[in-house]
Formats: sequence, C-alpha cells, structure tokens
Amino acid sequence: MTPAELRNRPCGGRYEDIVSAIGNTPLVELKRFSPKPGVRIWAKLESFNPTGSVKDRVARALIESAEEQGLIRPGQTILEPTSGNTGISLAMICSRKGYKLKVVMPDNVTPERTQLLKMYGADIVYSPGNLGSNGAVAKALEMAEEDPSYYMPYQYGNMANPDAHYNGTAKEILEELDQVDPFAAGLGTGGTLMGNARRFKEELGDTVKIVAAEPMQGEPVQGLRSLDDGFIPPIIDLSLLDRKIFVTNHDAIVWTRRLLDEEGIFAGVSSGAILKIAVRVAEEMDEGNVVFIVCDDGWKYQSSGIYTLPVDEIENLDATVWW
Ligand SMILES: Cc1ncc(COP(=O)(O)O)c(C=O)c1O
Repeated sequence: MTPAELRNRPCGGRYEDIVSAIGNTPLVELKRFSPKPGVRIWAKLESFNPTGSVKDRVARALIESAEEQGLIRPGQTILEPTSGNTGISLAMICSRKGYKLKVVMPDNVTPERTQLLKMYGADIVYSPGNLGSNGAVAKALEMAEEDPSYYMPYQYGNMANPDAHYNGTAKEILEELDQVDPFAAGLGTGGTLMGNARRFKEELGDTVKIVAAEPMQGEPVQGLRSLDDGFIPPIIDLSLLDRKIFVTNHDAIVWTRRLLDEEGIFAGVSSGAILKIAVRVAEEMDEGNVVFIVCDDGWKYQSSGIYTLPVDEIENLDATVWW
C-alpha cells in the first residue's frame, strides 16, 4: 500500500485477522507542545494496536520468527518474563495461534494487567515486586533452565524484537515524514530504540539523533529501566544511542496528564516520560520533526487514579506504592 493510499483511509485498512491488523498506527502532530512554528512534534500512537501497546508488534515478531525457525510447535508452552505489555500481546497472539503462555511478572503491577492476561488465557507466575523486571527475568531464566520443554522467546536478547521496529514502526514513520530529526523513545528492553535507530541511521544518516528516556535509578516508571541497575539487555547497542535523558516518576505522571489534558491522548505513564524529553529536545531546535512513541494506552493504569486526580495533588502521590 502506498503512503498516499494509507493516509486517511477511513477504515485503516483491511486485514484477514486481528494478528495481521497489528501496526500501521497513526502519526499525530501535537501542535500545543511545539515550542516554535518550524518545530513539529509527532506522536506515533502505538496505543492503537489491538491490545493497546507497541508490544503487539514485538510479540508477533517473536512468535513468527520462532515458527519460521521451527523452534515451536502447536500446543507448546511459551514462557516469558514481562512487566505486562509483552505478556498481554503474547497472550493474545498465542491464543490465536494455539500456544500456551506462562508469564513471569512482578507482583506489584496494576490489577488490570493480571485481568488482561487472564482474559487471554495466560498463566501468571509472580516474582517479588521489589526486584522489578530484573527479578522477573531472573525467575524466568531459572524456570527455563529447570524445564527444557518451555520455549522462551526472551525479548531482551532476541533480534526479532528490534527487527519488529526496523521493519514496522520506523518504516511507517518514514512513509509519512521525509526527515526525522530527534527520535525519542523509552528504554525498556531497548527494542524500540534499537530497531528505529538502525533504520533511521541507515536511511537518513547521522543527522537523526536517537534520544532515550531513562528512569532515575530507584525511580520506577512502568515499562522503562535504568541501565544503572546493572542489566544491559543483550539487544542494546549503546553506540546507536546519541543521548539519554533521565526522567522521574513524578515527571512521567505530570506529562501523561498533560498529554491527556492538552492533546486528548490517553496514554500510559512511560509515554508521559518520553513526551517530556521530546519537548525538551524540541526546545533546543529551530526547525524539524521530533518523533516520539506513545507506547501504550491508559486503560491498564486507570486504578492508579492519575487521570482524574487534581493536577496539584500529583505532587503528593507516593508513586512507588501503587506501581
Ligand atoms: C509501557 C511501556 N513503555 C515503554 C516500553 C519500552 O519499550 P522497549 O522494550 O522497546 O524498550 C515498554 C516495554 O515493555 C512498555 O511496556
């Protein structure tokens, strides 16, 4: 489909099933956040994917690449450590394709995540919340070692993860924009940053700057990780990152609310963190396109109350309690 055909297609395209409807998400300009007329800020709304997050792309790529390599067979159990979104995406895709799924997840994620996973039929194994996603990774690796019948896609070390962005997200952005100046995304597994960086640098050269939103150490922003916590996912090539900007949980929440209140975009908290750094780099520019990723929608975070709380009360939230 050519970009012109895709633009403003009233129904967003025709697909044979929900798994093939993943991707082709809208790129929406945020005029209210632009610091000057020549600087345009674009949000790639990954929240429009079937289960509401960017991880639909990754989960499909992980399963399809395992199928192509003959690593899995129908009925087999897939095991994956995930703080939520990858698990939800894998659960949907495994239920469509006839695999069982077991996810290992910190026990302090919001209850909506557990409900969504159960809804798609996944089994959940909890790891200690205080150990964060590193605790979930360690537990899943242990389980896989003890029982070789599991297939673990391991998104932290599987090139199908960044490739989903190289072949999807970045390609779609380049179909819409001739130039991307800074590209901003969150750092979780690193898949979004690596896959997009690779394609942008190949096609646009070194003028495109890749900017990562990284949480301050000990400041959990759900979906993001601090490299200072001691684990650098094997898919991360640090040489592709031009800049890291630290964000606090408080910033992430305030900017998630600004995205909702000022532009009507209902997103998860990591998207607020990324918006904050996108605006920060936009302020340093005279013209150009800043593209950032809205990783997921806000439904899974509703129970936190952040979308309805008066803005001046956000200051008093002890975010670490309800994460
Ligand atoms: C809500 C959310 N934001 C951001 C990310 C980071 O994306 P990536 O894993 O591609 O670095 C994730 C990853 O799980 C996520 O769930």
